[in-house]
Amino acid sequence: MFVRKFLPARVTGAVLLAGATRQLAQAGIPDPGRDARRLLAHVLGVAPGRLSLCLQDPVTPEDEAAFSDLIARRALHAPVSHLTGRRAFYGRDFQVTPDVLDPRPETETLVAQALSAPFDRVLDLGTGSGCLLFTLLAERGSATGIGTDLSEAALRVAGRNGDALGLMARAALRRGDWFGALGSLSGRFDLIVSNPPYIAATEMPGLAPDVRDHEPRMALTDEGDGLSAYRAIAAGAARHLVPGGRLLVEIGPTQGAAVAALFAQAGLDEIAVIPDLDGRDRVVAARLQAV
Ligand SMILES: C[S@@+](CC[C@H](N)C(=O)[O-])C[C@H]1O[C@@H](n2cnc3c(N)ncnc32)[C@H](O)[C@@H]1O
Repeated sequence: MFVRKFLPARVTGAVLLAGATRQLAQAGIPDPGRDARRLLAHVLGVAPGRLSLCLQDPVTPEDEAAFSDLIARRALHAPVSHLTGRRAFYGRDFQVTPDVLDPRPETETLVAQALSAPFDRVLDLGTGSGCLLFTLLAERGSATGIGTDLSEAALRVAGRNGDALGLMARAALRRGDWFGALGSLSGRFDLIVSNPPYIAATEMPGLAPDVRDHEPRMALTDEGDGLSAYRAIAAGAARHLVPGGRLLVEIGPTQGAAVAALFAQAGLDEIAVIPDLDGRDRVVAARLQAV
């Protein structure tokens, strides 16, 4: 006797996406559709911009299960970058793990400012994923640089990013407390950059759970007033910059005046507070006077 077998109909990406978006919305995720699309694109191995082209295709049971797992974790506020392990920054792809800050688009303001003038030797204090150091080295093919961090685990992630981008021949990574990480390494820098932890301890409870509960605490806060990293950086800048060298730091939007004052007290010149694309103060720039 002829027996016709019916395979269960496979669900399409469009159906999965609609359900996932509802699930994330119910969990209070701010942009549920965007995150669901990014996670489905990740599971299907397509660029997010090309996802629409395959939304009507049936999804395999394995991909459906993997997507469902990621959506369940996102509903618990795990950052998308931790779920995909990747984050695009200034046009390059960086590995991101729970050991490093998820590189933020607003940090590209500091990159643009750094690239607005020449430099040969750059120091990135608190390098995290290495997104600042390796972006600057990739954009300036003859420059060399050092990235430092207090976190050994963060430096391992930075090293993997440097390797993946083929930049470790021009870079070194050192562990330690701000300038203390340089140890016996000699030589001054014509550019020092830093995006240090700048959230005051009292502000930590008010952060979004995606950030507060999932990103490394030492990447977010100095456990004080949010300015202690700037004090350490200001105190050491003149000893580590060449005359005419530049210092650029990312700041929280309300910290411009306080950080500018610290840099002025440290004897730096040409101090400027620079806004990001949303018009919020984001970078403080200064220069060591040329002799
Ligand atoms: C806001 S994250 C910035 C990471 C990366 N530069 C970026 O822009 O995405 C600050 C980094 O500073 C590091 N850090 C915190 N305290 C430090 C210290 N005392 N000395 C050196 N690095 C420190 C943290 O581990 C973290 O990687």
